Amino acid sequence: MVICSQTFPLSLFLIGTLIIFVSFKWFSQSKTKKNTPPSPPTLPIIGNFHQLGSSPRRALRDLSQKYGPLMLLHLGSVPTLIASSAEVAQEIMKTHDLAFSDRPSLSIPDILFYKSKDIAFSRYGEYWRQLKSIVVLHLLSNSRVKSYSKVRKEETSRVIDALGDSPGSSVDMSALLGIYTSNVLCRVAFGRTYEGLGFTNKLKKFVNMLGTFCVGSFIPWLSWIDRLTGLKGKAYEIFNELDRFLEGVIKEHLHKKTGEADDQGEETQDFVDILADIQRENATGFSLSDDTLKAVIMDVFVAGSDTVFSSLEWAISELIKHPRVMKKLQEEVTKVAQGKPMIPEEDLDEMKYLKSVVKEALRLHAPLPLLLAREARQAVNLMGYDVPPKTQVVINAWAIARDPASWEEPEDFKPERFLNSTVDYKGIHYEFLPFGAGRRGCPGLYFGITLIEVILANIVYKYDLTLPNGVKSEDLDMTEADGITVQRKFPLLVVSSPRV
Ligand code: HEM
Repeated sequence: MVICSQTFPLSLFLIGTLIIFVSFKWFSQSKTKKNTPPSPPTLPIIGNFHQLGSSPRRALRDLSQKYGPLMLLHLGSVPTLIASSAEVAQEIMKTHDLAFSDRPSLSIPDILFYKSKDIAFSRYGEYWRQLKSIVVLHLLSNSRVKSYSKVRKEETSRVIDALGDSPGSSVDMSALLGIYTSNVLCRVAFGRTYEGLGFTNKLKKFVNMLGTFCVGSFIPWLSWIDRLTGLKGKAYEIFNELDRFLEGVIKEHLHKKTGEADDQGEETQDFVDILADIQRENATGFSLSDDTLKAVIMDVFVAGSDTVFSSLEWAISELIKHPRVMKKLQEEVTKVAQGKPMIPEEDLDEMKYLKSVVKEALRLHAPLPLLLAREARQAVNLMGYDVPPKTQVVINAWAIARDPASWEEPEDFKPERFLNSTVDYKGIHYEFLPFGAGRRGCPGLYFGITLIEVILANIVYKYDLTLPNGVKSEDLDMTEADGITVQRKFPLLVVSSPRV
């Protein structure tokens, strides 16, 4: 009895404490829930993965029409914000840019880029900041980009000659553009091309691996699956192959240096030369290791080649599909060129319509339609919602560039929309973000745009382009392939006939 009378109030106390605890938990959970952006329902383990389909940018746009321009998805166990309007993009990339300037840690890029020692996949911090400023100032500055105009001119001439080699028959324009992009990047980065050593094939394998889905990045407790399927082993194999190749390139540069020490003019320096100088002189106060040097060189190829290639492929496809636009562009370039055998880069600034055509192609076909994922470095209050640290952020630049709230007749290819408009791709107009924006924005914008404009102007200046086998221009197949960068599913075949 004594025991009972003592236990009763104790039980009451315990039950009461439990009720308070459960209510508090329920209340705090429902409060957190109230503050998170709208989310589609999830499945156990995979979260919302099943809703992404084969074209995530389209699936996400469709979901955003139901759940709003700021949604919270769960990709496996990774909470992921999806931004689908210019306003939300601006909040993330301008108002809260610093808080959202990290990159998520991903297993495959970690293997391929020397433990993410590159710029694109490196975590935000002093290392990334110093490296990015070296690349912006020493490799991709306007003056440095200008210093490679001879390389672009020679590679452009090569394409122009190849188009003239087989008049009247079908030519694989995609293949020619691929060679152009990779030759320019090779010559700028390494000082020469490496076709004999199969560099392009190695790079292709590298990029394909980068785009491979890795279970462990999204469901960490299932990461053993990546070992079981051999994915990680394959990634290491590809990494080692490219590492050996890059070691050879660096050795070759060291030999060249001792042989031609006094002949190395500023203009002839390639990216490996420049980075090796910075490494040796340690002038920037940043100790640049061999792994960092190789990781940066790989960034240049991965970030620069497919993006430029696909922009060109789509721009020419759209021009063929829209003969009115092609004619207007040809009139402009012909007028500015004034009979010169080839259009020099100095003339590009006068070609307002050319610039509008490039912008419009990038609007409809952003090579990286979801940019590169970011991650929150801290808790953020975003448009009234609570975003915890480590939340991943995806900007659907593709959907934003086709949002009827920002664009009239958004699905139509109409370069005129840019003619009398100040909207450009430099990262201050959030309705148009092919190069991203903010701290993590693309440092290769000027390099990429120059590479695109000069060859595009010359191709349309020298040739009329039609489709083989009597296919009408409006019937050109525009199907997109799946991949990190959006490319044509089928190569672009053309018949070229000389104009001048
Ligand atoms: C048409 C050509 C190109 C397009 C459309 C493009 C687009 C992009 C995009 C969307 C990003 C991510 C931006 C973000 O997260 O906000 C990016 C990052 C990057 N791009 Fe480009 N890019 C192009 C050409 C190049 C070239 C030619 C290079 C180098 C030679 C380059 C180097 C990089 C690097 C290093 C980053 C990572 C920046 C960082 O994380 O801080 N890109 N690019």
